Amino acid sequence: MNRYAKALRRHRTLALVALSALVLSACASSPLDTTKPVGEHAKSIDFLYRFSGIMAIVVGLFVGAAVLVVIIKFRARPGTEDELPEQVEGHLKAEISWTLIPVGMLVVLTAFTLPKVFELNETSDGMTVRVEGQQWWWQFMYDIDEDGEYDIVTANEIVIPVGEEVNLEITSNDVIHSFWVPRLNGKRDAVPGRVHPWLISSPVPGVFWGECTEFCGLSHANMQIRAVVLEQADFDRWVAEQLSGADREAPAIGSAAQAGMDLFAQHCSTCHIVEGTFEAPNTALLRSGVAPNLTNLMTRTSFAGALFDLYLDNGDLNVAELREWVRDAPGRKPLRPDNQQGMVSFKDILSEDDLDNIIAYLQTLGHEPILPE
Ligand code: CUA
Repeated sequence: MNRYAKALRRHRTLALVALSALVLSACASSPLDTTKPVGEHAKSIDFLYRFSGIMAIVVGLFVGAAVLVVIIKFRARPGTEDELPEQVEGHLKAEISWTLIPVGMLVVLTAFTLPKVFELNETSDGMTVRVEGQQWWWQFMYDIDEDGEYDIVTANEIVIPVGEEVNLEITSNDVIHSFWVPRLNGKRDAVPGRVHPWLISSPVPGVFWGECTEFCGLSHANMQIRAVVLEQADFDRWVAEQLSGADREAPAIGSAAQAGMDLFAQHCSTCHIVEGTFEAPNTALLRSGVAPNLTNLMTRTSFAGALFDLYLDNGDLNVAELREWVRDAPGRKPLRPDNQQGMVSFKDILSEDDLDNIIAYLQTLGHEPILPE
């Protein structure tokens, strides 16, 4: 190999090392990092992951060392190339040991894993939240007074009290999705026609990110989740605010918000619910039959499948992004409105004034989010 080829090879190796470092550091800082569990179930899954990982490393090292020994010890030596080494057929001790050792390891792994599998299917006596996946966002439904009717319906952000094992009832309104908030628990499929139980809990308040993890079409990557864990008092305030949404006063006559409400009635209420005002959407317009309930839109931190922040860092409403979304949703996130999958574009329908008025109306839908300190 000449000097130049050597240099090229060395640089290629360097470039590869740099690239892997970049990729690995990106993993380490991801809000979807599975190695920083917070919830009880996420912690025990993490334990299994590490435990089986260490076992695999030990086996890998042992096999590697054994292969190395065989390569060196039984290598062809000068003058003996044509001779076969001693041929062994059947070696009871060896066969028993390479059967029993892996069996023993699998038994140990099973003993740790199996109880966890059953534990993950348990339910708790905590509150229950129905989780519905659809193309391409999540709906969360709470039956607060336990009368069999959902009193709180929200989108993309599931809010739970700290320290409580919350029962999820996970399902889908169209295709298969998968609910995953890695720092709280593992993944659970959302399958149309089935309801899967799942538990999430966190011993500390915080906002934890999640993501749909079953490929579900065009905007699978834009189907995010935020799990907001609040102190009990804050959670109670959140519930009270959500429940009061339906009793909100209508915007003042002649205001921009009132003009926006009229436009909303004409263009948006065909799909979106605002409790107390617009409650009868045409469910046939959407493949999943449901669009995000906007009753308390302003109490969320994000919109469009948690793809965009609803507020800027300074606390102001992210008017620019929200406006663009209302104007041309399929231009901001891949959607297929022509196939009843997602919101239609209003870019040729709504004027700039119309957009201003609709934003003014949306701003009346609830106060700012309640977030953990
Ligand atoms: Cu929903 Cu992927």
